[in-house]
Amino acid sequence: MNDQQQPAALYDDTIVRQFALMSVVWGVVGMLVGLFIAAQLAWPELNFGIPWLSYGRLRPLHTNAVIFAFGGCALMGTSYYVVQRTCQVPLFLGKLAQFHFWSWQAVIVAAAISLPLGYTQGKEYAELEWPIDILITIAWVAYAIVFFGTIGIRKVRHIYVANWFYGSFIIAVALLHIVNSAAVPAGWMKSYSAYAGVQDAMIQWWYGHNAVGFFLTAGFLGMMYYFIPKQAGRPVYSYRLSIVHFWALIFTYMWAGPHHLHYTALPDWTQSVGMVFSLILLAPSWGGMINGVMTLSGAWHKLRDDPIMRFLIVSLSFYGMSTFEGPMMSIKTVNALSHYTDWTIGHVHSGALGWVGLITMGSLYYMIPRLFGQKQMHSVKAIEVHFWTATIGIVLYIAAMWIAGVMQGLMWRAVNADGTLTYTFVESVKATYPFYVIRVIGGVLYLGGMLVMAWNTWMTVAGGRSVRVAVPTPQAA
Ligand code: HEM
Ligand code: HEM
Repeated sequence: MNDQQQPAALYDDTIVRQFALMSVVWGVVGMLVGLFIAAQLAWPELNFGIPWLSYGRLRPLHTNAVIFAFGGCALMGTSYYVVQRTCQVPLFLGKLAQFHFWSWQAVIVAAAISLPLGYTQGKEYAELEWPIDILITIAWVAYAIVFFGTIGIRKVRHIYVANWFYGSFIIAVALLHIVNSAAVPAGWMKSYSAYAGVQDAMIQWWYGHNAVGFFLTAGFLGMMYYFIPKQAGRPVYSYRLSIVHFWALIFTYMWAGPHHLHYTALPDWTQSVGMVFSLILLAPSWGGMINGVMTLSGAWHKLRDDPIMRFLIVSLSFYGMSTFEGPMMSIKTVNALSHYTDWTIGHVHSGALGWVGLITMGSLYYMIPRLFGQKQMHSVKAIEVHFWTATIGIVLYIAAMWIAGVMQGLMWRAVNADGTLTYTFVESVKATYPFYVIRVIGGVLYLGGMLVMAWNTWMTVAGGRSVRVAVPTPQAA
């Protein structure tokens, strides 16, 4: 990865700074909403009888904010940072990139207003109504033109593997969004899906699973392939493996969606195809994880001394865990136990908090000082504190959900000798209560870490020089 020849001043980094800062801001907001709904599950009175504070409206606000605002801004900012440095050119059509930034923020604000007001298409992770969907499409086209245009004008022949992952994320999400959001408008902020019945469900979960595969995975693997080698100061463990990883992953993900619809009206064979592809998915996922972790071989001591490295590598261990757990949960007999329970929520957050959250934080900690002309973040000690609060928070969150989930599944299926149910549903809710409280504590810690990051970022920016005149440090560029 020979990307250090261009002085930082030649790159278009204003846009990267904007996206990086907004990722921190939206991270705090999205996690605060997550914490609030976690508290509502433990203490339902917290909706105060106000409709727009009700759980059903705030839950999609949480998922949209953390995935598309926190995760989205991080992916967009890092992809613009990485593509310029690995192609050794400034962004293609920098002004269009500005349009991309502002239109994406407009989408986020529109979501933050319309979801609490109760406007929704009722499709998970695709709740936003049709006018916002159109705005998303416009913003996305701008993004694609800038990103692929920059690759088109590159000065190096080779296209570094991180760009392949980012590129596949951009193309796949465009396809998923267009197909799944197809709807017939029935008024301002109201529409009906273009599909009906089981086809609608199938398309929704083709979308839903590939939102995991491409939004929450492929783009973040792009981060992994750039920032881990950079922070470790070593080349990727196996470049050949990274190429196999790329093609195997993107091919396999596309077929796994039906595991979200086990035991439904979906034809049985389709469910089995989904299950088989989910099991196969373990191989590319773990291949990629091993490639990332082994990049550190010979420099393991960095895990002891360098908190940023710890964020990056521990994120991979959570990635490994959730991509082992996912294939297991896709086995129909296992899914019969896990589906509808908090086990799924535990799985989601081991991927979301552990993998997506930690790799984002590590990459932002790498980038932010460089973007603001600093050698390092204002406080390295604070990065350390963030790492530990986040990690303990994740462990509390996911352990509580796993135990609660398995317990719920077992209670719901327990039957007496005469065939009647051993437990009423409400007994399982009551038994879950302590675990919901533990999740709140985990959430407080995770959000607390994010607030420490926001403070550290603020101090770094406040103490920073304008980057236009910055001379890159040897590792920067
Ligand atoms: C302070 C941190 C967080 C807390 C306390 C939190 C809490 C919650 C809660 C209470 C739910 C609803 C669970 C249910 O309906 O039973 C939820 C759902 C969800 N959260 Fe979070 N969350 C946090 C951070 C995140 C982050 C950073 C991400 C993604 C990057 C994320 C992604 C999701 C997703 C995708 C769902 C929907 C899961 C599903 O439908 O199965 N969360 N979260
Ligand atoms: C090999 C990789 C993976 C496989 C095969 C897999 C499989 C599964 C399965 C079987 C479910 C439960 C479906 C259900 O019963 O409704 C699920 C849910 C989920 N997984 Fe994964 N998973 C994988 C990796 C990940 C990762 C890395 C993340 C996050 C970054 C993630 C995020 C989610 C989300 C958000 C849901 C909840 C969807 C919903 O119902 O709203 N998964 N996954």
